[in-house]
Amino acid sequence: MIYVASNHATVAVTGSQSCGVLQSFISRSVVSGDSELADLHLQHGDNGLVLKWSRDTEKPIEFHVDYLKELLKHRSFPAPKQGAFNQALGKKTRTVIDATGGWGGDAILMCMQGYDVTIVERLPLMVALIEDGLKRLSKLPPFLDGQLILPKIVCAESIEFLSYSTGCADCVYLDPMFPAKKKKSAASNKYMQLLQWLAGPDLDADLVAVSAVENFSRVAVKRPSYARPLAEEIIGKPSTQFSSKLVHYDVYV
Ligand SMILES: C[S@@+](CC[C@H](N)C(=O)[O-])C[C@H]1O[C@@H](n2cnc3c(N)ncnc32)[C@H](O)[C@@H]1O
Repeated sequence: MIYVASNHATVAVTGSQSCGVLQSFISRSVVSGDSELADLHLQHGDNGLVLKWSRDTEKPIEFHVDYLKELLKHRSFPAPKQGAFNQALGKKTRTVIDATGGWGGDAILMCMQGYDVTIVERLPLMVALIEDGLKRLSKLPPFLDGQLILPKIVCAESIEFLSYSTGCADCVYLDPMFPAKKKKSAASNKYMQLLQWLAGPDLDADLVAVSAVENFSRVAVKRPSYARPLAEEIIGKPSTQFSSKLVHYDVYV
């Protein structure tokens, strides 16, 4: 079956079963019966969901969420908290809402570091891929078994989610799509390219920041070094900033 997943993407879903989860999320109309015409092809196989992205001139690019590989980069639990990322989340923080889930990479790192994480993501396709990645974590390596708390995931608009869940986490983490640079820069990796194509430029990022700051006592926003803080005219300047090589984190407390 083919579904319209966003303004411009069509997704063919085959080999279903667990794709039922996706079908219930994506309720917009079926546009064609021919999966060859789809931009994205989501297939459920032995290894879970595989997404293929077809672009006009190139052969399809494959995506598969493999959190186990990420987890095995660390050898002990909890993984060390270090650098600007953890400074931004805050020393006393235990619970985090990652309100811009994406591929779930930052959220999984937070879980590895011992935070209790809730992911919010509005794109049903991304939610299905994250859920599939988490499902395949049932066989964790021994050093993680019984230790790691997997993230909870919610398919929602963050502005509403944050306003309905006032104060229910120590920190809200935001990583909206980076604004385009004036000068042409190096291409991002294939995962970010797909997200940029699928999600577009996150035009409501300022409003998400306002909702987060109004409803939570700590908010950390990942920004590229060239970008201004979000919604400065409404929420003011960040209370503090932590910088790493290519990005910085604006923190509101
Ligand atoms: C740059 S990506 C985040 C990448 C993520 N930190 C990671 O590690 O993979 C931004 C994501 O936030 C989601 N997003 C942006 N604004 C949102 C909103 N208002 N509500 C829910 N999701 C949102 C987009 O759909 C996109 O998937």
